[in-house]
Parts: sequence; C-alpha cells; structure tokens
Amino acid sequence: MILIDGKKEAAELRERLKKEVSELKSKYNKVPGLTVILIGDMAPSQIYVRMKEKAANEAGLKSEVVRYPDSIEEKKVLDKINELNKDDSVSGILVQLPLPKHIDKQKVIEAILPSKDVDGFHPMNVGNLSSGYESLVPCTPLGCYLLIKKIEPNLNGKKAVIVGRSNLNGKPMTQLLLKENCTVTITHSKTKDLKSECLQGDIIVAAVGMPELIKGDWVKKDAIVIDVGINKTDKGIIGDVAFDEVSKVAKALTPVPGGVGPMTIACLLKNTIKCFKRSQKN
Ligand code: GUN
Repeated sequence: MILIDGKKEAAELRERLKKEVSELKSKYNKVPGLTVILIGDMAPSQIYVRMKEKAANEAGLKSEVVRYPDSIEEKKVLDKINELNKDDSVSGILVQLPLPKHIDKQKVIEAILPSKDVDGFHPMNVGNLSSGYESLVPCTPLGCYLLIKKIEPNLNGKKAVIVGRSNLNGKPMTQLLLKENCTVTITHSKTKDLKSECLQGDIIVAAVGMPELIKGDWVKKDAIVIDVGINKTDKGIIGDVAFDEVSKVAKALTPVPGGVGPMTIACLLKNTIKCFKRSQKN
C-alpha cells in the first residue's frame, strides 16, 4: 500500500511556489498578496488561518489577516471586501468559514471579486469550473486532485465515488474528476446503500465529517482512497476512513493528519500566485 505523504507533496509544491514568487518579484518588483478575513474566535478557524498566514510568509507572499469580533456588522465586512477588491497589492481574498449566523455567507462570497477569489467559491468560478472553463478551483479538492494524479496520471474511464456533496469539496471534486474523464458518482447522507456505491470506486474521496465511516469491506481492492475528514474524537483527530482496515485493501491512502490538509494550504498559495499572474498586464 502506498501511504500518500501529503506533507511531503505539499512541502515540494511550496518550495516550487517560493521559487516562482522570487522570479515574479524580480520580474515585476512586487509579490503576490493574500488577505484573509477572520471573524470570531473559533479555535479551528484561528488555527487554520495561522497556518495559512505562516505558509504565505514562508513562500515570500505579502500576507495580511484582518480580524473581526463575532459581533461585527455584515456591512463592515462587505465594505472591507470592497476596499480589498480595489487594492492592487491584494491578489487574493479569503474569508474564513464558517461565519457567525447574522452574516450572510452568500453575500460575502459574492462580494469578492471573482479574479481575487482564491477559495474558488464565487458563483462565477463555480460556473466556470463546471463548464470546463479556466477558473479558480477550491483549494481542498485541488489538493486532492493533485495527490490522485501523482498516484495515477491517467484517470480516463476510472470510476470515482465522492462521499459528500459540499460546495467546499464534493461538488468541485466531481468537476475536476469529470474533466479527467472519470465516471463520477456523488453520494450523500440520503444515498441508499453507501457501501455498495463505495465498492464500485477505483477512486474514493471521502468528505463527510463522519469518523471512520468508510470501512475496509467498503473498498475495492487497489482503490485510491482520499480522506478529507478531520474529526475530533476521544482518540484524537481521525478521518472519515477507517485507516487500519482500508490500508489492507487500498492501493493508496492518505493519512489524517498529514494527507489532504497540508495540500489545501499549498494550493491556497498556488491560487494566490495565479491571481497575481493574471492581474499583471504582461
Ligand atoms: N473553512 C474550512 N475550510 C475552508 C476553506 O477551504 N476556505 C475557507 N474560506 N474557509 C474554510
């Protein structure tokens, strides 16, 4: 079994991106900028944002975090996004989710200029991706995609089963694999007989937030299994895949932690650099 080392892959990608930033700096005399908006004090969001900031700085990007209390008015957030949209030194804008209940997530996402939408959540980017056009792709599925391609460069005709239909992962993941000519099944909480659906998959991507949902006897021999789950339990942080069981049947499997997570952050840097390059005239 191949243990997919997301930490190593992400470190290599970040190293390549760092070189690219340094070349861009020589060429344009400026570097890509990432601004993250963080609302409230939820511990996981605080941790993720700190990791994003650190990775951005290490790659040589200009990185800024705008912090607001839970009680911030929606209008103030929208005004800030507007200001960042107009700021040429800001290549990418990310608003960390989830948001407090009184703030309309859709309004916030739609306020970000599609060309600065490093999360790929704006309907314009979602639409472009699903039409097979050039777009900014959400960081987590992009990271999963790069890991899958590393194991199996030719995905033509492979059967992929996506577990979870979220906008963050399941839906964009589907589009990326469709583009690679996979036959994709999206499953979700109302799917009948999830086990038999999973057993069809040459590739399984699990992103539902249910600890160890995918068992060893749900997985076809030599399948590639990507575990997006991050579940806090008494046993520590575990994924959506029963690692020990599935590692006995899969061809390749991502660990949690150390699988998809580090790739998500590296892909955020990749998207920020992409926004910067597109915004330059030559
Ligand atoms: N919260 C959890 N994952 C993500 C993500 O990929 N982007 C944003 N903005 N918030 C998140």
